[in-house]
Amino acid sequence: MNIIRMENISKLYKSGQLQVEALKNISFEIKEKEFVSIMGPSGSGKSTLLNIIGCLDHASGGTYELAGTKVDKLNDSKMSQVRNLFIGFVFQSFHLLPRMNALKNVEIPLIYRGMNSKQRRELAEAALEQVGLKDRMNHLPAQLSGGQQQRVAIARAIVGNPSIILADEPTGALDSKSGEMIMELFIELNEKKSMTIVQVTHEEEIAEYGKRIIRLVDGQIVSDSKVEEKNV
Ligand SMILES: Nc1ncnc2c1ncn2[C@@H]1O[C@H](COP(=O)(O)OP(=O)(O)OP(=O)(O)O)[C@@H](O)[C@H]1O
Ligand SMILES: [Mg+2]
Repeated sequence: MNIIRMENISKLYKSGQLQVEALKNISFEIKEKEFVSIMGPSGSGKSTLLNIIGCLDHASGGTYELAGTKVDKLNDSKMSQVRNLFIGFVFQSFHLLPRMNALKNVEIPLIYRGMNSKQRRELAEAALEQVGLKDRMNHLPAQLSGGQQQRVAIARAIVGNPSIILADEPTGALDSKSGEMIMELFIELNEKKSMTIVQVTHEEEIAEYGKRIIRLVDGQIVSDSKVEEKNV
């Protein structure tokens, strides 16, 4: 089943006299449990596309269906409800709150769901355990390595059990060893928890952890292909 379906999606940014056509009539589908990498030069529209997929922004035109819901017809508050239920976000620079420890950071999405504190704590601990950081749950972000901070961010992304993980350059700020750990975690979430994963990256080796690569140039899809199985 398609979890993401986009038809003729366009995005026009307007500021004063300037107009940028960041996405030009993009159409594609992503099935449940796929692991897709999006690549392309700087300014090609990768983050714009990810933000539309993640219901952080509306497209200017076209049709977007997320799990059967026509997102382009939703108002902002409905859109954030859909986002909170279906999507977990991971960013290049982690976006953790600096004054909160790992546990509190991971609890944040559950607060928006109106869950009580005991339940929140249980789920946040389980998510931190899943990313191998239960022993660091009382640490502040500054007391963690970059790779550990990104794993806390992933715990926060998965704590609400979303269908889709969206990651914008998740390994961009990490050394290659920590980057590999993040990719292994994504593979585990994809294969064992059946989460659909869509990640943006400019590193070919990172892209190849996915099973399919969509390449953007100048707001258009120029290729969409399966990653060859590697014989290790
Ligand atoms: N808020 C905005 N207002 C105006 N133009 C924007 C805005 N956000 C992005 N753009 C423009 O849209 C185009 C696509 O931007 P986007 O951030 O999606 O690129 P990207 O592929 O993610 O690039 P990078 O690899 O550098 O992150 C760029 O030309 C950019 O300048
Ligand atoms: Mg970007």
